[in-house]
Amino acid sequence: MTLLKYLQSYTDKNILPMHMPGHKRKALAPYLHILGAKYDLTEITGMDDLHRPEGILKECQQKAQKLWHSQHSFFLVNGSTVGILAGIRSCTKTGDTVLVARNCHKSVYNAIELCGLNPVYILPQMLKKIPSYSCVQPSQVEEALKVHSDIKAVIITSPTYEGIISDVANIAKVAHSFGVPVLVDEAHGAHLDLSPYFTGGAVKAGADIVVQSLHKTLPSLTQTAVLHLNSKLVSPQSVQRQLSVFQTSSPSYLLMSSIDSCIEFVQNQRLFLNWNSNLESFKEQIQRLRYLEILNYTENSESIFGFDKSKLVISATQTNITGGRLFALLRDKYKIELEMCGGDYAIAMTSMADSQENLNILADALLSIDKTLLSVNRSPLCTTITALPKRNMSIAQALESPKKVIDKQFSKDSVCAEYIWLYPPGIPIITPGEVINSETLSIITAAAENKMNLQKTFSNSKEDIAIVEK
Ligand SMILES: Cc1ncc(COP(=O)(O)O)c(C=O)c1O
Repeated sequence: MTLLKYLQSYTDKNILPMHMPGHKRKALAPYLHILGAKYDLTEITGMDDLHRPEGILKECQQKAQKLWHSQHSFFLVNGSTVGILAGIRSCTKTGDTVLVARNCHKSVYNAIELCGLNPVYILPQMLKKIPSYSCVQPSQVEEALKVHSDIKAVIITSPTYEGIISDVANIAKVAHSFGVPVLVDEAHGAHLDLSPYFTGGAVKAGADIVVQSLHKTLPSLTQTAVLHLNSKLVSPQSVQRQLSVFQTSSPSYLLMSSIDSCIEFVQNQRLFLNWNSNLESFKEQIQRLRYLEILNYTENSESIFGFDKSKLVISATQTNITGGRLFALLRDKYKIELEMCGGDYAIAMTSMADSQENLNILADALLSIDKTLLSVNRSPLCTTITALPKRNMSIAQALESPKKVIDKQFSKDSVCAEYIWLYPPGIPIITPGEVINSETLSIITAAAENKMNLQKTFSNSKEDIAIVEK
């Protein structure tokens, strides 16, 4: 039985709700009706408890296990963010050293800060076609594990926002030979391995902990996600305990029903077949692009292990417009809102919920824009770091130190006291404790000049930066 049907049969019983939530499942206010409060139940008799699942929620999680072939799967109601925090905490102790791909999402850095970890960073190479990261190589992981014998976990993102998939099977093989677990942030890859049309999923590849946002690529409500555990090195008890630390004690049954129903829904292979054929036909249409280019990495091109073709990464590097301009044109002139833009590219996300017509509209708009463009040979607008900044102190130390906000033009060689990132993708350009260098400053300046969504922990003005006081 799905959780949704279970909730329906409960509400049909007309039991007087002398318990939370305060809306009592009544449309006291019209918004509650619109938002579906009727099934917004909580851990009352018979409804099980996500933090100690023994009934319906245990059954639901077992369905996730079966679908992704994991040993244990845990529902998350606060996105991949909570899975990353709990996952990292469950395989480390305070003060441990962890190997982290520097292109990880900000939630990984928050885990480092909260868990008092000592990160050793590896930086993936840059892609050739756009200024963004390629995959993490197993050899990078092996080298780092040889040099730093105290590493207790390996943390990487695969696929990236741009759809780049790392060779998780060989990364896991290397890490396991050192007795170290691998956590993969697969927030953008819940659909991988659910059908033969999409491959490269991290659960199948043997990662110990895999965190997926269902809401990003599958038809499920925002915040819904799943953590999969497949490990001899991390115990399910430890993950369950950390989830009860980081996750709300009142998980939403609406969100959990969405996860459960989504799991049943996506077992219909026809949905993937349609998605794939819509993408194929889109590819045919955009053959006519002259200067814009939709990236399409086949196996081993540029040493990339895999590529998620559902991400339409539109490169404008050979044109007279930036990614931001392309993004704005599509929004303002064609009423198409993309997922994000980087300096020289923009990303359209597709899903099984896109019709062929949707993709035709996008293809037509791109072809029209392309006709107006000029071919330009220019250097790429890079908004990601290409070398690791020096680190002077830990993230936590820098955040807790006395700090001052100064004009960024005087900040070179100072220790940064804040995170600075573009959102999306949420990869820090600099983290607290790292030393500000000319690359940091040129990225911040380029991002501000191009009106990109630059976010900082403390300083407000684009001209300012928070540094640690000497
Ligand atoms: C790579 C990556 N990891 C983790 C997250 C966090 O996911 P969620 O929004 O589901 O918490 C994001 C969000 O954009 C992301 O891009």
